Amino acid sequence: MNFVDTHAHLQMKHFENDREEIIKNFENAGIFFVINVGTNIEDSIISAEFSRKYNKIFSSIGIHPHDSKNAPENYLEKLEELSKNDKVVAIGEIGLDYFRNFSPKEIQQKVFTEQLLLAKELQLPVIIHIRDAYEDAYSILESFGPFEKGGVIHSFSADSEWALKFVKLGFYLGIGGPITYKKNKILREVVRMVGEDNILTETDCPYLPPQPFRGKRNEPAYVKYVVEAINDIIGYDVSEILIKNAVELFEVNL
Ligand code: NI
Repeated sequence: MNFVDTHAHLQMKHFENDREEIIKNFENAGIFFVINVGTNIEDSIISAEFSRKYNKIFSSIGIHPHDSKNAPENYLEKLEELSKNDKVVAIGEIGLDYFRNFSPKEIQQKVFTEQLLLAKELQLPVIIHIRDAYEDAYSILESFGPFEKGGVIHSFSADSEWALKFVKLGFYLGIGGPITYKKNKILREVVRMVGEDNILTETDCPYLPPQPFRGKRNEPAYVKYVVEAINDIIGYDVSEILIKNAVELFEVNL
């Protein structure tokens, strides 16, 4: 089987001692490509550099809701400049996070909205982070839609009803390690309901490792466990479809 990891944060300090090894690991593990995702300007710059340096890494650039209060005034120009790199394939992760509320809601909404407009202007898909904010995120996305270039609700964590609403808006659902957690019946129901055509696989590494590695650091090679869990739920091997979804959304040329 081959795999893609549409959401990794290899720029993070968790990988500072063995990043090269982790990248070799996933190249040997049948990973077609990885989308490395930025969360602020500094690590979006690093992320874009990684994709220049490594064949199988593409990058996404953007300001995470947590970082929105620290976004520099000219952040939109900086993102636009970075997007000129051919291997920058998306804007993200952007969105709303009311669970931690590291940035005030109003600022989160402003920075989210501005980046959605930027993505439209640049004709790029979006990678969306939503936590405890499905209602507000949905109404913002609905009012700015349709998104011609599409996007993904990364690490989807709501129920089937929300899942169908976002799929109807034209979004993929990003499924990662939590699909392998024994108690996560709701997410397995979501996967069954929306089917393989509406799913992207991801790790969100270094976070959210699959069941066998819980409590440890996650890495792109572990996306295999996510694909196996999805195959089990759907009832047959959908790994090629999961790759095709990601290739189409991010218009990746290998
Ligand atoms: Ni992330």
